[in-house]
Amino acid sequence: MTAVADSKHRRRRSVGSAAHYSDGRYYDQAYRRRRQDVRFYTDLAIESGGPVLELGVGTGRVALSIARRGIEIVGVEPMASMLERAEERVQRLPHTARDRIELRQGDLRKLRLRRRFPLVVAPFNVWNHLYTRSDIERGFRTVRHHLRRGGRFAFDVLLPDPESLARDPSKRYRGGSVPHPRDGIRYRYSEYFSYDAASQIETVMMDFEHPTDPKRSFCTPLTQRQFFPAELEALLHYNGFAIESHEGDFDGEPIGRATESQVVIARMRSR
Ligand SMILES: C[S@@+](CC[C@H](N)C(=O)[O-])C[C@H]1O[C@@H](n2cnc3c(N)ncnc32)[C@H](O)[C@@H]1O
Repeated sequence: MTAVADSKHRRRRSVGSAAHYSDGRYYDQAYRRRRQDVRFYTDLAIESGGPVLELGVGTGRVALSIARRGIEIVGVEPMASMLERAEERVQRLPHTARDRIELRQGDLRKLRLRRRFPLVVAPFNVWNHLYTRSDIERGFRTVRHHLRRGGRFAFDVLLPDPESLARDPSKRYRGGSVPHPRDGIRYRYSEYFSYDAASQIETVMMDFEHPTDPKRSFCTPLTQRQFFPAELEALLHYNGFAIESHEGDFDGEPIGRATESQVVIARMRSR
């Protein structure tokens, strides 16, 4: 790849990694029905006894539940918009739970705290935002740096679906209409998908069409690096992890045609 093409790719990736997270209230509304993962990570946190480190804490969807159940948690997030929303939600907790959450702005690839944790988590596709091998290796290094001996690393990423990845990028996939919390207006929602087979990055263009005024329509890109299951296992292995479980959902369903995620629990491999 030429230097110009490489920098164009990088720019597109960074826009597609930030745009979807520029409005914490919209994020919470969009994913309000996603609960199974919250239960899964909360149970792991209770089992670990804490404290827990959450990489990519977002609006605190998972972290708040963990703190409510009596476990101390440190959450790290690069997007100010997501962190502001998380802060707002933390302020509404009873003060005992509030005191158990520490939020920090930061990039998981560079994070170095002077603490170790029995559990590090990266819930809901955080790893799909690590686009290059170097980013992925830096992410795993951060996890190793913060795990206590015998500690666990739990995360989930998308399961790539070859049929979906082969979708025609010019085809519009219509969803329903969605109210946007910014203005309460119902936008007509549709999506376009394009997949770059060389970098394994899928871009979803989320199109919000204003009902009457085209000037108020907008489009939000989301870029996600796809991990094929055997590739993910190899990456974990060569970055010093042993896999405890690698499943297709949060109820232990094996990875297969009917599942959409990969849910991994790993430990550092003893040398
Ligand atoms: C789908 S959200 C998941 C948020 C939260 N874990 C949850 O379960 O709701 C993915 C999050 O990863 C964050 N993220 C992306 N790149 C990151 C990085 N390099 N370091 C830390 N977080 C990152 C995004 O800003 C976003 O908040």
